[in-house]
Amino acid sequence: MKDTYIFSIETSCDETSCSIIKNGNTDVATVTATQIDIHKKFGGVVPEIASRNHTKVITMVFEECLKKANMSFNDIDAIAVTYGPGLNGALLVGIEAAKALSFSTGKPLIPVNHMAGHIYANKFSGEFKFPLLALVVSGGHTEIIYMDREYSFKKVGGTLDDSVGEAYDKVARVIGIPYPGGPLMDKMAQVGNHSYDLPIPKDDNTYDFSFSGIKSAVINLVHNEKQRGRIINKEDLATSFQETVIGILVKKTKRAIKEYGVKQLLVAGGVSANSGLRKELEKACKELDVELLKPEIRYCTDNAAMIGAAGYYAYKRGDRAGFELNPEPGLDLDKEGVYSE
Ligand code: KG4
Ligand code: ZN
Repeated sequence: MKDTYIFSIETSCDETSCSIIKNGNTDVATVTATQIDIHKKFGGVVPEIASRNHTKVITMVFEECLKKANMSFNDIDAIAVTYGPGLNGALLVGIEAAKALSFSTGKPLIPVNHMAGHIYANKFSGEFKFPLLALVVSGGHTEIIYMDREYSFKKVGGTLDDSVGEAYDKVARVIGIPYPGGPLMDKMAQVGNHSYDLPIPKDDNTYDFSFSGIKSAVINLVHNEKQRGRIINKEDLATSFQETVIGILVKKTKRAIKEYGVKQLLVAGGVSANSGLRKELEKACKELDVELLKPEIRYCTDNAAMIGAAGYYAYKRGDRAGFELNPEPGLDLDKEGVYSE
């Protein structure tokens, strides 16, 4: 069978990324320009600055990717681009670039949901076995998704307020860790002790999450300790926070695995790089005799390779966008499929 090559573009937040992906599971080339150092001084992503920087580097990222793969657009079957969810102006840069490429090369334009991309980052780790559940934990999302076939997404539960990534970044900020705080909090959590008593977030019989309560509890605790002139043990606080948050994520995921009788659990999104979460999910899946697929660390946070992997399946089932394609900042995974024929 002829190989299929997808040229994919991801600009939904602060990474300008481009990939060439073969048959949905082979990363031929990926080039990512990160803006983390630019946004660090502001303590988070500044949307206007993100868009401007995407515009500045996107053409160079494309050129570098083609060069790395030693390919030209003649070798490409389709152009896939993230059209949501994400920052409007940031998405717009990638979408307009994708439209221009599609127009000039005559290759089809494939719209890809960023969260589908996170789930499909697991294609570089192994085959999907349906039915499966995906625990999607990123800077913007915390969701449990059910899939009974390729590229079909049903939301089982989600966060009612903050995402896990957001809670990590905000807690990190209050204890003086620069953006994005998640990775460093994770390192600190590995050496601390669970000595702070934090409230367990939304421990009920739903599959929904809520992390704003624990975030506020940590912020209040830090302020109170400061007022009393006491020093916070940052490592201990990181461990206490991480174990509490992972505890509820794993507890609800385990219950969903049992209820939905799935063959596999996928973990996806930036927070899936978390060492504690990976370890606890491994333990849970072993106990329940369910296979666990985890993305390679380089595919956990935003990248275009995952968009190329998802884009391959979107292309195969006939999803096509016209030149009227626009960013959809609040796009839901449940709404996937509007572009299929
Ligand atoms: O998926 P992602 O790159 O962007 C969104 O789509 O939102 O996720 C970024 C989030 C940030 O909040 C970052 O702090 C978090 O993922 N993150 C982590 C770790 N690595 C990245 N959180 C906890 N532990 C980590 N090791
Ligand atoms: Zn993401």
